[in-house]
Amino acid sequence: MAPSATLSPAPATTAQLNIGSLRLGAPVVLAPMAGITNTAFRRLCREYGAGLYVSEMITSRALVERTPESMRLIRHHPSETPRSIQLYGVDPKTVREAVTMLVAEDRADHIDLNFGCPVPKVTRKGGGAALPWKLDLFRAIVTNAVQAAGDLPLTVKMRKGIDSDHLTYLEAGRIAEDAGVASIALHARTASQFYSGQADWDAIATLKETITSVPVLGNGDIWTGADAVRMVEQTGCDGVVVGRGCLGRPWLFGDLAAAFQARAGNLTADEASAATARPGLGQVMAAFRRHAELLVEFFESEERGCRDIRKHVAWYFKGYPVGGELRAKLATVESLQQLDELLGTLDPTVPYPSEGVEGPRGRAGTPKTPALPDRWLETRTLASDEQATLAEAEVNSSGG
Ligand SMILES: Cc1cc2nc3c(=O)[nH]c(=O)nc-3n(C[C@H](O)[C@H](O)[C@H](O)COP(=O)(O)O)c2cc1C
Repeated sequence: MAPSATLSPAPATTAQLNIGSLRLGAPVVLAPMAGITNTAFRRLCREYGAGLYVSEMITSRALVERTPESMRLIRHHPSETPRSIQLYGVDPKTVREAVTMLVAEDRADHIDLNFGCPVPKVTRKGGGAALPWKLDLFRAIVTNAVQAAGDLPLTVKMRKGIDSDHLTYLEAGRIAEDAGVASIALHARTASQFYSGQADWDAIATLKETITSVPVLGNGDIWTGADAVRMVEQTGCDGVVVGRGCLGRPWLFGDLAAAFQARAGNLTADEASAATARPGLGQVMAAFRRHAELLVEFFESEERGCRDIRKHVAWYFKGYPVGGELRAKLATVESLQQLDELLGTLDPTVPYPSEGVEGPRGRAGTPKTPALPDRWLETRTLASDEQATLAEAEVNSSGG
C-alpha cells in the first residue's frame, strides 16, 4: 500500500515491538493504573487494539502474604495473553519471592516493576520514585527480580527522578539494563511534578540514546494515535505507554494500532483516519455498560462492580451532551438495572462531538516539594537507619 504524504513512515519501521520473548502486535502498552487497569478494563481495551496490557500495581509483600485482594488483582481472563503484572516493592528479598511465586505458579507472562509512585506517604518513607536515588538498593531489587524471573521478561517503569535537581533516570536506566531487564519505560516527569505540566519528551530521547540494548518506552501525555507516533518520531523511543488518555476511551488502543500501522506503511493515512474511533453516544453507552458488566464479573459482586464504574462516568461522557443531573445519578448507580434505566434516558444517535473528547483527562495536580525521609538526599546508598523506615514504604497506595 502506498504510504501517504501526510503520515510518511520511516522505511525500516515496523508496527511491532518485542519485549524479551514477547512479540507485540503494536508498540503500545496500557499503563498500569491502580484502581483502573484490573482485568475488566484490560479486557475492554484489548478488544480494540494490540500490545501489552499491564495490571494495576500489586505490592510484593501483599502478594507473598497471599492477601485476598492481591490474589484477586493478579487474576487474568483466559482471553488475556500475554498476561502482564506490575509489582511494587522496596525489599529485594520480598520482590524476589513475589517474582518467584508468579513464575512457579505460572501466573504471568511479563512482570513490570514500578519505581514511579509520587504519593507523599510512599516517598516520605523512601519508596516509589524516591527509591532509585539509592542506587545500591535499586540495583539489588532489579537484579533479584530479573534472576527470579528467569525466561520471563522483567521490565521497569520509572520517573525522571525526585525533582529537577535530583534526577535518577539515566543512572537507574543503565543499572536496569546491566541487570538484564527486557525494557525500560520512562514517565517523563519528576515525582515533584506529580501529573502537572507537560511530560518532558526530551528526557525520553536522552534515555533512548543512553540505553542501547533493550527497548525504551516513552510515557506521558499521549491522548491520540498521532501523539503516540509523534513521541516515537521525536524521541526515537521503541514504543509508548498510555495511561490517562484511555480513561473512558478504551477504543484509543484501536487508534494507536492504526496510527502505527500507517507509520509502518501498512495503512494509508486515509485508512488510518477511517479506522480512528469517533464514537457516537450510543457506542459510548455500550462500552460503558460493558465495562460495568466486566467489573461485576471481576468483583463477583454487582454492588461492588457498580460502585467501581461510578469513577468512570465523567471520563466516558466527557464532551458528550449528558446533563449534570444524569451524571450525578450515574455516579451513584447501585445496580445494572438502574444503570440501564439511566442510560435509557439518553439519545444514542448523538454523534461524536470531537471537541473536548481528545484532549487531556484524568489526574493533573500541582507541583509539590516531594516528601522524603530525613537526610535521604545526602547519600546515594541506603543507610542502616533508613532500612527500617523503608519497610513502611510498601503500603497499598495508588500510584505511578
Ligand atoms: C489513576 C492512576 C493510577 C496510576 N497507578 C499507577 C500504578 O499503579 N503503577 C504505575 O507504574 N503507574 C501508575 N500510574 C501512572 C501511569 O502509569 C502513567 O505513568 C502516568 O499516568 C503518565 O502517563 P499518561 O500521561 O499517559 O497518563 C497511575 C496513573 C493514574 C492516573
